[in-house]
Amino acid sequence: MLIPEDQVRQRIQEIAEQISKDYAGKDLHLICTLKGGVFFMCELAKHITIPLTMDFMCVSSYGNTTKSSGVVKITKDLDEPIMSRDVLVVEDIIDSGNTLSYMLEMLSDRKPASIRLCTLLDKPERRRKKVNVDYTGFQIPDEFVVGYGLDYAQRYRNLPYVGIVRFE
Ligand code: IMP
Ligand code: MG
Repeated sequence: MLIPEDQVRQRIQEIAEQISKDYAGKDLHLICTLKGGVFFMCELAKHITIPLTMDFMCVSSYGNTTKSSGVVKITKDLDEPIMSRDVLVVEDIIDSGNTLSYMLEMLSDRKPASIRLCTLLDKPERRRKKVNVDYTGFQIPDEFVVGYGLDYAQRYRNLPYVGIVRFE
């Protein structure tokens, strides 16, 4: 166990409060990256007190299951245009930053009014591409983690806490 359930929920509530303040008077559009971001986005959205809409996108990197290769493909695009909207991308984790930098660049090309990034977890030690993170739940050490949406080979997403995988 790395981060217990009550701490995750507490932190998400704090971020939701901050987002509600920062976007007061605006029409917030949340974009969740599937599948890992789903648990975080649902919990976050429930605690945001301003009007919002949501959309989903699936971007995955080729390669093995514990390291991203830097080659990214869109397997599900957004349903709606984001032009002139205030977009907040909601991610499970930022590791090398490869996936995110690619995705943010592509979304920026669609001319949103603003685009910011919110992540539950951040592994800053492993960053290879610079990404500007606006809201971070927790900075964590360089460990492979699961739970709260994060998987190892598609398993353990449903754990209500964040745990470290020990490879024997
Ligand atoms: P990046 O492109 O290296 O930043 O990797 C981003 C994606 O890799 C995340 O959205 C996750 O899907 C996956 N990932 C990175 N680190 C972990 C981890 O510790 N556990 C589970 N998935 C991870
Ligand atoms: Mg992901």
